[in-house]
Amino acid sequence: MADKLIIFDTTLRDGEQSPGASMTRDEKLRIARQLERLRVDVIEAGFAASSNGDFEAVQAIANAIKDSTICSLSRANDRDISRAAEALKGANSGRIHTFIATSPLHMEKKLRMTPDQVLEQAKQSVRFARNLVADVEFSPEDGYRSDMDFLCQVLEAVIAEGATTINVPDTVGYAVPELYGQFIKTLRERIPNSDKAIWSVHCHNDLGMAVANSLAGVKLGGARQVECTINGLGERAGNCSLEEIVMAIKTRKDYFGLEMNIDPIHIVAASRMVSQTTGFVVQPNKAVVGANAFAHASGIHQDGVLKARDTYEIMRAEDVGWSANKIVLGKLSGRNAFKQRLQELGVLLESESELNAAFTRFKELADRKSEIFDEDILALVSEESVTQDKEQYAFVSLSQHSETGERPSAAIVFTVSGKEVQGKSEGNGPVDASLKAIESIVESGAEMVLYSVNAISGSTESQGEVTVRLQNSGRVVNGVGSDPDIIVASAKAYLSALNKLQSKAERVAAQG
Ligand code: KIV
Ligand code: ZN
Repeated sequence: MADKLIIFDTTLRDGEQSPGASMTRDEKLRIARQLERLRVDVIEAGFAASSNGDFEAVQAIANAIKDSTICSLSRANDRDISRAAEALKGANSGRIHTFIATSPLHMEKKLRMTPDQVLEQAKQSVRFARNLVADVEFSPEDGYRSDMDFLCQVLEAVIAEGATTINVPDTVGYAVPELYGQFIKTLRERIPNSDKAIWSVHCHNDLGMAVANSLAGVKLGGARQVECTINGLGERAGNCSLEEIVMAIKTRKDYFGLEMNIDPIHIVAASRMVSQTTGFVVQPNKAVVGANAFAHASGIHQDGVLKARDTYEIMRAEDVGWSANKIVLGKLSGRNAFKQRLQELGVLLESESELNAAFTRFKELADRKSEIFDEDILALVSEESVTQDKEQYAFVSLSQHSETGERPSAAIVFTVSGKEVQGKSEGNGPVDASLKAIESIVESGAEMVLYSVNAISGSTESQGEVTVRLQNSGRVVNGVGSDPDIIVASAKAYLSALNKLQSKAERVAAQG
């Protein structure tokens, strides 16, 4: 029988660390449900000690998800580890993932600790965690840039203390495939008790090699767990992408010879959900989940594919969920059909009133747009959960005027803590006028660092999905809004970003 490769998804922890990608508890829960449908083995749900919000998110996910192991990150100290264990209490299967940096640079400059102190703290933390849960993962942060002898000493010691998984991060994305694969192999060969733990790879994508490095860690190094994120979401250039690693292992089973639990049919829906929730748009030519990943534009390719698919296709689009992108509902669809489609999409609305509110919005949308796609439904419930969270600002209505040769103007009505206000402004274009109309009331002073518009499902009939990234006093947030009218979508996205700026969630950085 083939060996099994464990897929450890860290979209909700390392992915969320990406500036602007922070998610609410309910958003994380919805993504966790999709990850469970994908049959991810381990879901790293957050970093429980970093904030009350993250504690509650890990707790909610641990209580709700039963088929995947739920993991919380924690620094190597008793307080963080106890918080993680507390948040994981309701889990069927819970894991504590504790880490401390081991590279000379990090120990000296960041931690200001000697190697002996780091060794002691690593041992003590794993011992403490093992008294609370049976499943403990240890990561030497910046492991790939650590001294081999010292790393062997630390890892041997934490395995002896009961660590069940050893994860070797290339924290800064410095590795190259052959060397990283060899690095893991050397560790496993030199550490006498290495067979007592599962070896894991965790690669960042700064040089665009996170997936290649992870595969080398598996093939050459013998790792049997890969840490990855949906869409490769993560700080800087991101993490190893789940969809790429999974489809590489599956498509090249002849070479890797490994089994996974993953059900790839849910990949595209997961990708859409993560991008809609975080506002991180997927590039069209992104492998597996990009809009062009299976599009054959050149005549020669089209001709070949029509004659025999495998002339130019190594995977089938429908196997990763592309064919799920079909018209599912319309104006005449009833509440039950809507509810069932939500269930099929893995969206569980917690109360009848939430379902009713979402259904009302669905009907409003169906009046304006004849074909409703899965993406429309996901966008609609994303917005629904934002409105349910009793946000400070909520969109009500907008009117704008633009004509060739005239300066556009807009008037917008929105609520501030439930009270309606109206803002008016002119601008360079209708979007600019609308956002300035909002600013005329809010006066946030935030700087806009990104504005992007995407068609949710292809044609001009489609809804526009707008992402707005705002920066203020060192905080970066993304707001997403969707509507068939892109000016309205822009206003919604701007208000959503302002709401996020407003929420004062302070977090402890995992790698700070
Ligand atoms: O990249 C990294 O080093 C990490 C650790 C906290 C595992 O994310
Ligand atoms: Zn990382």
